[in-house]
Amino acid sequence: MSNYKEHRIAVIGAGVMGTNIAATAIGHGLPVVLVDVDEHVVEEARTTTLNHVRHAQLMGALPADRPLGTLTTSVSVEDAADTTAVVEAIVESPEVKAKLLTELSALVAAGTPLISNTSGIPIDELADWVTRPADLLGTHFMNPTYLIKMVEVIRGPRTGDAALESVADLLTAMGRQPVVVRDAPGFVTSRLLHPMLNDAARIVGAGTATVEDVDALMSGCLGHPTGPLRTADLIGLDNLADSLRVLHERTGDERCRPCDLLLDKVRAGHLGRKSGRGFYDYGKALS
Ligand code: NAI
Repeated sequence: MSNYKEHRIAVIGAGVMGTNIAATAIGHGLPVVLVDVDEHVVEEARTTTLNHVRHAQLMGALPADRPLGTLTTSVSVEDAADTTAVVEAIVESPEVKAKLLTELSALVAAGTPLISNTSGIPIDELADWVTRPADLLGTHFMNPTYLIKMVEVIRGPRTGDAALESVADLLTAMGRQPVVVRDAPGFVTSRLLHPMLNDAARIVGAGTATVEDVDALMSGCLGHPTGPLRTADLIGLDNLADSLRVLHERTGDERCRPCDLLLDKVRAGHLGRKSGRGFYDYGKALS
């Protein structure tokens, strides 16, 4: 039986997913150290995380009988040292993640799970950069993490049983439900979802339908919760383009090559909700 008091986690990267993961953890009573290289991001991270917690409370998505876990924010990755698990949620770049994982692997004690919240970089590729590949695995938390209970967990060929069990226990303590899959570019959810989001943007770019009509048809006819383009805005268009590049490079699937409209939006700084504008205009940046 999972005991939330046994877990104390570090989350590296305080962007969209880092603050979501931190909110879910503190909302379930776990102490969290939230780290980012960007001082400005760290300044905002506490407010953003606590806003997520309030939203989760309003939705009845947190246990009412647990005190909130403590939240510590930092610009120093060294503050991740004394924790029971480290989750990295930094940019979707194999090179940047490799550098951080090398650093973390030298910092934390042997047996501490190192968790990559990558959307689609194969875990075994990242395992080349750590000294103890058995401690490394992937979690693909969804957004908003505090509302979506299911988490795709990626077991790399070198991931050990102990790390897998420890992370399953951590996820249970966070009120999440793990589903373990094997390693592949994009795993299951990104491999299916991201090319579809790219196609939706491609359809708009070709003038076949407007953004609103693509989303209306996918919601109204096919039961998609928000429509693909609103989902793309929620994910972040820069992150989606990065994830598609990872998929395209590793699978050769042309559907995964980021389409022109998506790349134009990223170049213009229209990154979705987090920048206030993407396929839709939100007026101001939303967390
Ligand atoms: P984001 O761009 O919102 O945040 C990334 C943060 O990482 C930034 O604040 C940046 O300053 C920070 N960062 C970069 N390098 C760093 C380093 N070396 N050390 C500490 N902080 C560093 O990105 P987002 O959307 O939160 O994505 C994070 C990861 O989660 C990516 O791998 C992404 O593919 C994955 N993911 C994203 C989802 C989404 O809906 N946005 C859903 C599931 C997974």
